[in-house]
This record gives sequence, structure tokens and C-alpha cells, in this order.
Amino acid sequence: APFKLLVTRRIPEVALKKLSETPGIVYDLFDKADVAIPPEEFRARARGVDGMLVMLTDKVNQEIIQAAGPNLKIVSTMSVGYNHIDVQALSRANILLGYTPDCLTETTADTTVALMLVTARKIEQALQAVRNGTWGTWDPLWMCGKDVHSSTVGIVGCGRIGQAVARRLKTLQAFGCDVLYSGPNKKEEADKLGCRYVSEEELLRSRARVYKDHDEIRRTRGYFGRDKFRQMKETAIFINATRGEAVVQDDLVEALKDGTIAGAGLDVTMPEPLPVDHPLLFLPNCVVFPHIGSASVPTREKMACMAVDNIIQYVLNR
Ligand code: GLV
Ligand code: GLV
Repeated sequence: APFKLLVTRRIPEVALKKLSETPGIVYDLFDKADVAIPPEEFRARARGVDGMLVMLTDKVNQEIIQAAGPNLKIVSTMSVGYNHIDVQALSRANILLGYTPDCLTETTADTTVALMLVTARKIEQALQAVRNGTWGTWDPLWMCGKDVHSSTVGIVGCGRIGQAVARRLKTLQAFGCDVLYSGPNKKEEADKLGCRYVSEEELLRSRARVYKDHDEIRRTRGYFGRDKFRQMKETAIFINATRGEAVVQDDLVEALKDGTIAGAGLDVTMPEPLPVDHPLLFLPNCVVFPHIGSASVPTREKMACMAVDNIIQYVLNR
């Protein structure tokens, strides 16, 4: 019998073509521009499938697994993060999980550095001034921010993406930053770059910070709350490019308002999209990107192909 696959979103054409060209796979594509598959539709279309290729916007929980039924053998997500998937429920039902590490590391590190620059140098406010006519004249004191080069950067976790960020920042001819990192494990790669492994307390007392470790999200839900912000210097800029869940957003709003920290750059929020009337969007010292860490054309093609290959490998070897 053909392998029945549900694909929950239109993915890059190269990846769909691979699927079409693999004998023995038939796929059902949920193909509506700009919308994630609604949960009811997801349950309905999951019925009887052998595999599903999902996005980080799709909750794969016990309910979906049950709706799919006993044929379901593999779930492949087009993301490096899998906090939207109930991994324990999958393993209880002997269902394989595929994800897309490595291929998005460099692109996401680029985005993270962009977030640091945009936040530290008030780029968003500056661009608004150009558009809304409040750009007066060149002014020695106007729109001045902090330097990213030569600054101290703290990376909590320092996994694949954190290390790629460190590489960009640490190189002397590039930003020449002093890079500290903390986390459960010392990382040889980071040490080789001259990054210093320090306690989290020491890291928090330093100036800036990137939080990066997708695998740890479950453990770190609400990790960055009032206490952590209070440990940071008032000149610190907080960067988050992992998951919005890692932050107590109300505490962040408060810390940005009362000057506990100087700024925040976020590629991820809770929820996504962030409602346009959310307090974070009214703070001049906060920059929000719409979860575009891995959003370059080549990287999204690579991620989609990897997600598809995870399915194809399973089908060919079954
Ligand atoms: C992006 O956030 C991903 O998990 O791939
Ligand atoms: C800036 O444009 C300068 O000339 O200093």
C-alpha cells in the first residue's frame, strides 16, 4: 500500500518535487496561504496517515496521535525546535521523530547578530524617524546607541547556534567581543574560539546576552523572569532567538519599563504573532522580529529537503 503522508503547509518546491518523485508516497497537502492548519482540520486530515510532515506551528499531541491511529510511524518537523511535539507520547507509541538541525545554524546566527545590532544601535527607531519626518539634522547626540563591537556578550546554553553566534562575535577582525557562555556543559568548540565558560551568575552580571538552546526549552520554560533580569546590569541588552516560552514576558515588559535592563531584541514571543496592541511593541527599547531566524531562501529549502528526506529514508527502508 502507498505510504500516506500529510504535509501541513506548502513547503519549497524543490522539497515537494522530491516527494512527488519518490515512488510509493502519496501526500495530502494543506495548502492555504498564510494560515497554519487549524487543529480540527489537522485532526481530520491526520486520520489514517502513515506519516506527517509538520511545522513548528502545529501541535503534535496525544490527541493528534490518536486521531491518526495505528498506522502513524513517523513525524517529521521542518524545524530544529520540537517543543511543539509531545516527544514522550511519540515514543510511547513507537513513532519516529525527524527534525532539521545544523542546516539552519548559520542563517539563524546571522539573524541573531542582526537583532543585537538593531537593538543596540536603535535601528528601528532610526528607520521610523526617516519615515515619519522626525529626522531633523545630523546631530552629535541624536539616536546614539551602544556599540556591539568590543562589548561583552553572554550566551546561555551555547549549543550549535550559540556557537555560531560566538564565532561571528569573537573574531578579532570582526566584532572582537568578549564572549562568555554558561550552561550545563563546557563546550570545546566555544573554548577554542576563546569564549570563557563562566557561572550563570557571572554571565548575568556581564553586559549582553543571547539565550540559545532549543533542546532545553521544556526545562527552561519561564526561565528568564524578574530574578534573572535583576541580576543583569542596567546597561544589558537581552536577546532571545529560541522560544518565547523561555521568558516571563510580563517580567520583561516591567524590566524594560523601569530600566532594570537597557533593551531587548526578540525573534520569538508568546504568542506568535504577538497582538499588535501588546505592551512590548510600545517600548522604544524593545525590538521584535517575527520569528525569522532561519528565513533565508536557501536555508528554508534545505530545511524542507531535510524534513522530506527524513520521511523518504523511512519509507525506503521500511
Ligand atoms: C525555528 O525556530 C526552528 O525551530 O526551526
Ligand atoms: C559622519 O558621517 C562623519 O563624517 O563623522
